[in-house]
Amino acid sequence: MLTEMDQNKTPLFDALKAYNKSKVIPFDVPGHKHGVGLPEFAEYVGSKVLEIDVNAMECLDNICNPIGVIKEATDLAAAAYGGDYAYFLVNGTSSGVQAMIMSYCHPGDKILIPRNAHKSAIGGIILSGAIPIYIQPEIDERIGIAMGMSMEKVRIAMDEHPDAKAIFLINPTYYGAVSDVREIVKLAKKRDMAVLVDEAHGAHMSFHPELPIGGIQVGADMSAISTHKTGGSLTQSSLLVLNNEKLDVQKVKSIINLTQTTSASYLLMASIDVARKQLAIRGEELLEKVLELSRYGRDKINEIGGYYAFGKDLIGNPGVHDFDETKLGVHVKELGLTGYGVERILRSKYNIQVELADMYNILCIISLGDRKESIDALINALREIKEKYGKPGRGKSIITPPLKNPEVIISPRDAYYSIKRVVKLRDSIGEISGESVMAYPPGIPVVTPGEKITKELVEYIEALKAQKSMLQGTEDPYVDYIKILGMNS
Ligand SMILES: Cc1ncc(COP(=O)(O)O)c(C=O)c1O
Repeated sequence: MLTEMDQNKTPLFDALKAYNKSKVIPFDVPGHKHGVGLPEFAEYVGSKVLEIDVNAMECLDNICNPIGVIKEATDLAAAAYGGDYAYFLVNGTSSGVQAMIMSYCHPGDKILIPRNAHKSAIGGIILSGAIPIYIQPEIDERIGIAMGMSMEKVRIAMDEHPDAKAIFLINPTYYGAVSDVREIVKLAKKRDMAVLVDEAHGAHMSFHPELPIGGIQVGADMSAISTHKTGGSLTQSSLLVLNNEKLDVQKVKSIINLTQTTSASYLLMASIDVARKQLAIRGEELLEKVLELSRYGRDKINEIGGYYAFGKDLIGNPGVHDFDETKLGVHVKELGLTGYGVERILRSKYNIQVELADMYNILCIISLGDRKESIDALINALREIKEKYGKPGRGKSIITPPLKNPEVIISPRDAYYSIKRVVKLRDSIGEISGESVMAYPPGIPVVTPGEKITKELVEYIEALKAQKSMLQGTEDPYVDYIKILGMNS
């Protein structure tokens, strides 16, 4: 039984340390040969980092076909999250999201998916040839950002598309909102639909009872987890956890191997091994402190006045079944400030880097590495920013996107492979889009490849541009031009 495994063990990390101790003479790659060939870098980062930057070999197993220490380490990771099987990922959760979609969807299969899914999900849809059936997330009109999905919309989508192979969930959203994952899993099981969970922002959640529940814990079939974001491991390292005896784990392996490097970094993988141990053994105690700091920071920021540090008070609003308090989002609009502006001032004047800013909010991630001093620095900086730069009542008005579901004319995959041409944004009305336009806020694609571009959408993009919101996705960085399907006439 995986659940009875000894989580104090770190099989991969131990094997790596044993390899280093044995002073092997390396005639294999990487060519820096334990750092000797890159002394300037070794001196700065520390020689050990390069001594354990090695490639696959018998004693260290191989990520492409784990049967040794990597398999032992991934079994421990699966057990820690309550799953049956796990894979290490060295290209972040993006690769896990793509593997999940490709594991369940063949070309032409439907997948129910929130419209605010990360671009890696659109990538998974293009790679698999799946047909996305979008569910519009709820938008909080006060703070201007997308939340989770309401059960009503989930039920309608499931009833209208009972043949969908899977439903995709974000648990939690970037800003911390959580849909009713347990209920969605129940409904999906009744319809024989798989539940695929994007837990890029939820690596820590399964380890403290006061945090929202992890997808695997309530029976989701697969979860892609960015251990590198809030779980403590190194950037790029993630997990794909499987929870379904019916799922062919070898098929999932071959899907991951389609795009995965054959030279995975042992630094990244070993960091997951140690981070998993820390979460499993000390997670609750460590996350208790993280929650204390988050609550302290949130309360103090709200006491300043003018700012709104939102959190569990959003629970019960549409699309917010639960909330991850470690996401400290602060709404700054009522002080006549923009999130982008506050982000810049925090960095340039206070040496503070936030995770994300949008037109109306900033987002600070509170995690295992935070201390009270850093929270106090943030509180004091926000207090001063209010005094020096605040102009209460002069905030920009919130623009919300047209909430109609897009008209999908051809599949994102077919659109991706079609011939395209570039036109001025205004001239694209009535055409089929050849690329995506993403808007922050609210973090929802305005249009994705294969969808009809309407006048309403173009006007929404123009309004966002006028407000200097961040738009992404088109080859043209300013979104004055967009690619549409079809040849030049
Ligand atoms: C919701 C969501 N899913 C997936 C990803 C991709 O995760 P990674 O950066 O680990 O590839 C992100 C990245 O920010 C994300 O926000």
